[in-house]
Amino acid sequence: MDIADGEFVILVGPSGCGKSTTLNMIAGLEDITEGELRIGGQVVNQKAPKDRDIAMVFQSYALYPHMTVRENMGFALKLAKTPQATIDEKVNEAARVLDLTQHLDRKPANLSGGQRQRVAMGRAIVRDPSAFLMDEPLSNLDAKLRVQMRTEVSRIQRRLGTTMVYVTHDQVEALTLGDRIAVMRTGRLQQVGSPKELYERPENLFVAGFIGSPAMNFLPATLEEGKLRTPLGDLPVSDQLRRALEGAQAGRTVIVGVRPENFEDAALVSADARPNGITFRASIDVLESLGSDVFVYFTKDIEQGVNAAELEELARDSGRADTGGSGDTVVARLDAATGVREGQDAELWVDARAIHVFDPATGRNISLGADGDGRAGTATAGGTGMAGGTASGTDVSGGAETGRAAGAAGDTPVT
Ligand SMILES: Nc1ncnc2c1ncn2[C@@H]1O[C@H](COP(=O)(O)OP(=O)(O)OP(=O)(O)O)[C@@H](O)[C@H]1O
Ligand SMILES: [Mg+2]
Repeated sequence: MDIADGEFVILVGPSGCGKSTTLNMIAGLEDITEGELRIGGQVVNQKAPKDRDIAMVFQSYALYPHMTVRENMGFALKLAKTPQATIDEKVNEAARVLDLTQHLDRKPANLSGGQRQRVAMGRAIVRDPSAFLMDEPLSNLDAKLRVQMRTEVSRIQRRLGTTMVYVTHDQVEALTLGDRIAVMRTGRLQQVGSPKELYERPENLFVAGFIGSPAMNFLPATLEEGKLRTPLGDLPVSDQLRRALEGAQAGRTVIVGVRPENFEDAALVSADARPNGITFRASIDVLESLGSDVFVYFTKDIEQGVNAAELEELARDSGRADTGGSGDTVVARLDAATGVREGQDAELWVDARAIHVFDPATGRNISLGADGDGRAGTATAGGTGMAGGTASGTDVSGGAETGRAAGAAGDTPVT
């Protein structure tokens, strides 16, 4: 994976997938057994952490309680025997960026959680490093403050223009913060791209299920006479999609992925738009109105849910049984104008153009090739590593594990 100068990159993935380990390797706190880590073109595998010019902010930051904000922020510089005038200048500048100027002479005990968090960032900023590494710096904050600090971090990064690698397991945080997101699973890179690319063109089941909330719905489907037979009904298959499916040599059984917003109350779909999808009846179990949207949950006689290693892990990680394929509940986002009622039957519409089709054996998104211009590979910016992602189809014999190994660029160094 390549990270450009000044870029804001997010590492995201389930607990235990290796995010902190990756960050520690970049910082030099963890030895690298294999591969190369380059900073500014130079291999730094053997370089000591202090010689890498990188500042790290950890999840649990400890401020010195007996020191003022000013002293806390300048402490590392003082240890480094930096002249006092320079320390003052740097601390004042960092305080300005972080909006801490009026709190410089307070002790940490008299600060709010968000202010303390900013002091911890200030300690990193004064060192003027060539890159910042942040390991879930906001996870100690309550939900509201976290949202506020998220915007702050974005603003600070843009103001400083310093390269930043930021770890989180929160996909919403990932989508809102960075220029590019790297999705990891079990120590392997799954896909790297802009939030939009990951959302619209997920390369495999894992990325598709991980990015987006509520998650993408996964339905078992079979390819029959040019149609996709799903529990919702027979979805028409465009010529392009048909070619992609044939080219992928997937079996007759596939997994269809539909995002909640690709459904609509059929009564609200214009006659012109209707032929782009199919209408079906569903019994609405639960309806949640959020004012701007309405979410409806329904089950459709799905005799047997979708089984795939990726989906099981997603379900485990989120602690929910209803993540995508592991459950038989489908969630749809409808326009607020819908007249659909909880506990009643409703006629819904699904946009057949927006569906994704996955190979259950490899987890690969077979429908990406349907654009006909081979963009599947370029969706992963910076992605020499992920070029292998599209090639994973060449070896489907080994099942999911092999497919991923080929696609995950696990043997490409993080630079
Ligand atoms: N020193 C170690 N020795 C052996 N295994 C380790 C060590 N440190 C971490 N691991 C394992 O390596 C894997 C990756 O750990 P890591 O801390 O990088 O995960 P993470 O993605 O940061 O997870 P989280 O979101 O929970 O912080 C985990 O399975 C963990 O148990
Ligand atoms: Mg971690």
